[in-house]
Order: sequence, then structure tokens, then C-alpha cells
Amino acid sequence: MHFQETKNITLLQEWAKNEFVLDLEDIHGISHWKRVDTFGMILSRLTNADKIVLRCFAYLHDSQRQCEDSDPQHGERAASQIANLVKNGILKGLTPSQLNLLEEACQKHTHGKNHPDPTIGACWDSDRLDLPRTGIEISPQYFSTEPGKTLCQGLSEEKSQIRILLNNLCENTKAPIFYQTAHIKVPYQRIGNLWFNGKETLPPTKVPTEVLLSQCRNTLIPL
Ligand SMILES: [Fe+2]
Repeated sequence: MHFQETKNITLLQEWAKNEFVLDLEDIHGISHWKRVDTFGMILSRLTNADKIVLRCFAYLHDSQRQCEDSDPQHGERAASQIANLVKNGILKGLTPSQLNLLEEACQKHTHGKNHPDPTIGACWDSDRLDLPRTGIEISPQYFSTEPGKTLCQGLSEEKSQIRILLNNLCENTKAPIFYQTAHIKVPYQRIGNLWFNGKETLPPTKVPTEVLLSQCRNTLIPL
């Protein structure tokens, strides 16, 4: 049986949502997975990375987190789910080499290193490109692939075409931009002209200025 990209990725997404014990709307939840998926699809076009492995990594790698802060074993736990996912048909059709790449990418993605394999490197790059959501500044030295480094550089520069393009892509793929600054622990998500802080929708006047400034800096979308 072949891996049917659209069908099986949807099944994997649903599986991961059911598995996830934390808040799906929080920083390691569904909108993060979708952005990692979007970044991965871009990187697969710019490198020799395997798109299917990248897409599976997006939905699997954080699915077993048990804590939003330090949880060094969550990558290992995600990797250990792969055999089950082959058995239940969701990852059926991936080749042994694709499964090995996915396993290593999940297992070690928390260790903060670079990887020479183009697919594993691109998996980690796609995850790290979404670090600005946590308030962490990204730097090319932590990226494995050349396109990853370029995208990182572009995301870090105000008004760069890359940043505008990535933000537009995230909107298209329904992976909403999601902000959390280093000082404000409550995540805010912009929905049209309103803001959602995890509990209620707020007009811009009720949102901390720091969050609005971060939105301006990061997306250049007029408020
Ligand atoms: Fe992640």
C-alpha cells in the first residue's frame, strides 16, 4: 500500500491531536505543527529533503510532550510511536529508510544540534524557524541546511520579502501566526482585528502594547 499524502497526513494530524495531553492551542500545539509543516514544504522544494518525512515530522515530533517547558524525553517518546503508526496504517507505505530518518529526526530534535543529512537537517530547520513564536531569537548557526539559514536570516530582518512571504504562506495554510513574547506568558493569536488570549477575544485596546509591537515587528500586517 502506498502512502497517500493528503489522506495519511490528515490521519496523522488527527491521531496527534488525540494523543496530545497539553493544550492544543498552546505554543507546542496544532498551529505550531501546521507552521512546521508549511516551513518543511518550502524546504523540501529548496533542498533534497524528503517531503513526506518532513510532513510526518511536523505532526509527530511534539505530539508526546507532557510539559510546555523542559521535556527532554518528548522526542524519544514521539519516535517510539512510529512502530504503532505503521501497524495502524497511518505510516504504512513509508520505506524503511524514510522511517529511519523520521525516527532519528524525532528522537534528537530537542538536542539543539545541526545534522548533515538533508532530510533530518530540514526537519530540525522547519521546527526552529517557528521559534520566534516563543520570543526566542533565531540565528543561522543553529540551522543545518543552506536554505534554512537563508530563511532564518530573512525572518530576522524587518520588512524582508522572505518574512512577508512566509507569513502569507502561513495564512494560506491556515497556520496562524502565534505570538508569545519572552515577558508575557499568555499566548495571543490575531483573528481579524480581534485578539484571542486563550480565553476571550479582545479588541486591540485591551491587548498589551508589547504584544502589538511584536506583531508589527514580526509580520508587518497593518493593525
Ligand atoms: Fe516543535
